[in-house]
Amino acid sequence: MPVTLIAALTIHVLAGVFWAGTSFALARTGGPGGERLFRPQMGAALVTVVAGGYLWSTVHPPAGLLGVGAAAALVAAGVQGALGGRSIRRLRQGAISPAAAQTMIAIAQRVAAALLALAIISMVAARYV
Ligand code: HEM
Repeated sequence: MPVTLIAALTIHVLAGVFWAGTSFALARTGGPGGERLFRPQMGAALVTVVAGGYLWSTVHPPAGLLGVGAAAALVAAGVQGALGGRSIRRLRQGAISPAAAQTMIAIAQRVAAALLALAIISMVAARYV
């Protein structure tokens, strides 16, 4: 395996672990601290997707199961970005209470956590099916 591929896979998995791990934690705890983690999470999502895209274009894997995982990850990023981002924006504008923002962040994290679990299972299983 060429060194660039190893580096890309390492970056992909490291960023994915942070993204999914923080989503699982926030889903479990109900969203406190979600505001501070929003940018790092979105950054990790971007790195995961870009490195995943590079891996895809280099390895040319069979699309089936990996495609399901990649689609789930993209939807997870969309839900976190849209719902989480909107609630944080509205909280800063004073349009909603901190409790309401935390509820919306928790919903976004729970949906994303389920989708990211699906993404991880698909990514890990894809090599063997
Ligand atoms: C758009 C999103 C994604 C794309 C396009 C993508 C693409 C890929 C590709 C092409 C591989 C295969 C690399 C190889 O065969 O060497 C891979 C492996 C992997 N991906 Fe993703 N991925 C995405 C999201 C994620 C996410 C969100 C996670 C974790 C939260 C993740 C975790 C993994 C892991 C652990 C592997 C290694 C599997 C193994 O080598 O057994 N991926 N990904």
